[in-house]
Amino acid sequence: MKTAAYETTADMIGYGGFGHLQRRIATLAKSYLFPLILGSHTRQEGVVLPPRYLRFCGMEFRSDQFFLDSARREAARLIEHCSLRSGSSVLDVGCGAGRLAIGLMQTLPDVRYCGVDVHKPSIQWCRKWISSQHPKFTFEWVNTRNARYNPDAPKVVSENSLPVPDRSADVINLFSVFSHLDRNDTQALVRELRRVVTDTGRVFLTAFIDWSDSAPDLVVNPAHGQMQWSGPLHCVRVRHGWFQDLCESNGFEFHAGPADAEVDGQTAIYLSVRASAKTESPIKTATRNLDGP
Ligand SMILES: C[S@@+](CC[C@H](N)C(=O)[O-])C[C@H]1O[C@@H](n2cnc3c(N)ncnc32)[C@H](O)[C@@H]1O
Repeated sequence: MKTAAYETTADMIGYGGFGHLQRRIATLAKSYLFPLILGSHTRQEGVVLPPRYLRFCGMEFRSDQFFLDSARREAARLIEHCSLRSGSSVLDVGCGAGRLAIGLMQTLPDVRYCGVDVHKPSIQWCRKWISSQHPKFTFEWVNTRNARYNPDAPKVVSENSLPVPDRSADVINLFSVFSHLDRNDTQALVRELRRVVTDTGRVFLTAFIDWSDSAPDLVVNPAHGQMQWSGPLHCVRVRHGWFQDLCESNGFEFHAGPADAEVDGQTAIYLSVRASAKTESPIKTATRNLDGP
């Protein structure tokens, strides 16, 4: 068995099943001690990047060039497949240390971007190194419980957990976020996505998908080839049919990209609002306008 190349050693130090005190120490270390010892940022091609201990996706993201290229690729994908344009509002749920924001600043800086995450050191880093230079890119810490990234928070994902108004996001990005959510959070977050996305908006997400009809709906840290997962919610895999039904029952059309083609074998999923689930059909809007408030 090899340890999953999926997240950083520093991440495992924080969330490998230690108790409350150790987790607080790990969080403080990431906020204050690691920056002193390991540095607060790096630069590649003149672009400020987060330090490696705040990069949560696979080992390949430790390479500064890979990280920067991947950031640009994520931005390009949203432009090509999710109709992201100048002026669009982007909600990056589980933004981590700002990878998408960094890519957008390179390719489409004129968007209205909001990154949200439960991991406080990541949000602190983004505010310090991104918002300070680009105030239109904002970041919010949401104190929602996640057994891996924010285990001591008082509440789980629920209605209005995302700190943005209804129907306010043209594009929502969740790269490798459903890969770390339990069943309740998975269901609640899909409902939240429908609440905040505009009727013409798009959602892009990645997830570990089990394509077998007989698989359990959701498995935490599944036996997966040679991978050895470490700690809570390191890898959450959902059954394709179950996850598609969940999205469709919340009013989404569901399109899967090439199977298992993303980082560590995740699959890209694209959601758009089903015509019959749109809240503001043109006829209703016209009637309301004619009738007045
Ligand atoms: C593997 S990292 C991906 C980071 C980033 N999306 C990227 O691609 O670089 C998963 C992120 O999801 C965040 N997260 C987990 N549960 C969340 C929730 N309920 N709401 C918002 N963020 C969450 C974690 O704190 C972590 O930063």
